[in-house]
Amino acid sequence: MTEPVIRVEGVGFSYSSDVPSPVFALKDINLEIYAGEYLVIVGHNGSGKSTLAKHFNALLSPTQGDIWVTGMNTRDGNNTLAIRSTVGMVFQIPDNQIVATVVEEDVAFGPANLGVSEQELRERVEWALGVVDMLAFRERAPHLLSAGQKQRVAIAGAMAMKPQVLILDESTSMLDPTGREEVLSAMRYLNQEGTTIVAITHFMHEAVEGDRVVVMEEGQIVSAGSPREVFCQVEKLREMHLGVPQVTELAYALHQRDATFPADLLTVEELENEVLRRVSLKGVVA
Ligand SMILES: Nc1ncnc2c1ncn2[C@@H]1O[C@H](COP(=O)(O)OP(=O)(O)O)[C@@H](O)[C@H]1O
Ligand SMILES: [Mg+2]
Repeated sequence: MTEPVIRVEGVGFSYSSDVPSPVFALKDINLEIYAGEYLVIVGHNGSGKSTLAKHFNALLSPTQGDIWVTGMNTRDGNNTLAIRSTVGMVFQIPDNQIVATVVEEDVAFGPANLGVSEQELRERVEWALGVVDMLAFRERAPHLLSAGQKQRVAIAGAMAMKPQVLILDESTSMLDPTGREEVLSAMRYLNQEGTTIVAITHFMHEAVEGDRVVVMEEGQIVSAGSPREVFCQVEKLREMHLGVPQVTELAYALHQRDATFPADLLTVEELENEVLRRVSLKGVVA
């Protein structure tokens, strides 16, 4: 099997490990993320999602265990620069990530710090703004853009560093539905082009986008698998007071009334097809 891009081995983390009985924000986390994957992490506020994400690009160093990024241990300070250019990060609030007064300068900021040549820099900025469909805004002032557009500029900035892995920590949560769809579509495109995506979200229908979903609770991974495997456990997720996608909720309710109705539907399209199939079986269609 190929080496994962990120390997988390027995990681525990405490923000105050020097006190007599430290509280652990992460407890014995084991996780492997493979090249080209689209991984989604869900969980309540305070369950440790951001703390884990910050370990992926060496913003935090584990109290226990190890994290390897393409074979580099994040504990070794000599690896930090290489790790940060391998794993890019986009945060929740776009305003906090904008550093320049012109869009293209903002996108150039990261790669310029990596020491990329002028010519290469121009190419990367153009490419990254193209990916997020913001080329037309290259000379604009970022603070005048909509939240969705700002977040796309922030993603372009992270992309211009050409990371193998892009982590988006609730990067759609401050956006309206249009902005959210814009960002999701950029993420989908990047993943199709080969970038490994790690998306943290509390929108369950966004989790359906992933190849794999990891559910966190109190610093631990409590469930992991394909979206269908994870969201099928409707009762377990309810016990944790976590929702499931609305479509799954509805399919599950119908399944309880009629056991022949599948409980594991994830998308509107699947539900629509199932309903139409039943309608045509009954010959109700005119
Ligand atoms: N900078 C910090 N200092 C101390 N405790 C923190 C800090 N950041 C987060 N925590 C605590 O760590 C736990 C996990 O938080 P976090 O990783 O932010 O969760 P999530 O991203 O899932 O909401 C919470 O109990 C939170 O209060
Ligand atoms: Mg968080």
